[in-house]
Amino acid sequence: MNLRIAPSVLSCDLGRLREQVQEAEAGGAEWLHVDVMDGHFVPNLTFGAPMIRALRRISDLPIDVHLMVEHPEQYLAEYADLGASVFAFHPEATTHVQRHLSAARERGMKAGLVLNPSTPVGWLEEVIDDLDLVLVMSVNPGYGGQGYLPASTGKIGRIRALLDRHQKHDVTLEVDGGITVQTIRAAHAAGADTFVAGTAVFGQPDIAGAVRALLAAAKGAE
Ligand code: DX5
Ligand code: ZN
Repeated sequence: MNLRIAPSVLSCDLGRLREQVQEAEAGGAEWLHVDVMDGHFVPNLTFGAPMIRALRRISDLPIDVHLMVEHPEQYLAEYADLGASVFAFHPEATTHVQRHLSAARERGMKAGLVLNPSTPVGWLEEVIDDLDLVLVMSVNPGYGGQGYLPASTGKIGRIRALLDRHQKHDVTLEVDGGITVQTIRAAHAAGADTFVAGTAVFGQPDIAGAVRALLAAAKGAE
């Protein structure tokens, strides 16, 4: 199975963004995860277009945008123009989910749906042909540094089975929240291939080493 680390810049020291992103890249990070929060969909406020623009200047890695905002579609065209590679949003945040997934693809981005811990897996089935990525929240979104919810592992397994049943072997199955060298192994064994990690990468003194440690811990599950 593919294996990819997507460090979340939410946990970066923003005054050292370039340096820290380059360290993560040197450790083998393949994507950069950007947590856009609006203070409404989640009780926290972060960044948006200026962060995507800054990262695009700093690195050539694909930018994986996770929108925790109401009406994510209002940012779709702008983020595509800025060079975002993944456009992933929560189905509770908008009404016409299928339309926006399909618009993300038309704009050349991977179309992703994000499931909160309480959001049923069955929602995916209705739009399965429109998905390039599923992002499983293993914490309730809003903050970095929370603990991995153990029920997430079973949910990842059920989503992998659903994707297999529909022969969707190219859909990325990503996990976000509380990923550490301790939790990554079970999540990978259950079928996830892409791992967001904030604290476990940028919260560590050796950022490159932290990415390598996550990769090694996940490989232990293969
Ligand atoms: C949480 C965000 C995560 C966050 C993960 O709402 O979606 O991407 O940055 O942080 P850690 O890895 O510290 O749980
Ligand atoms: Zn995220």
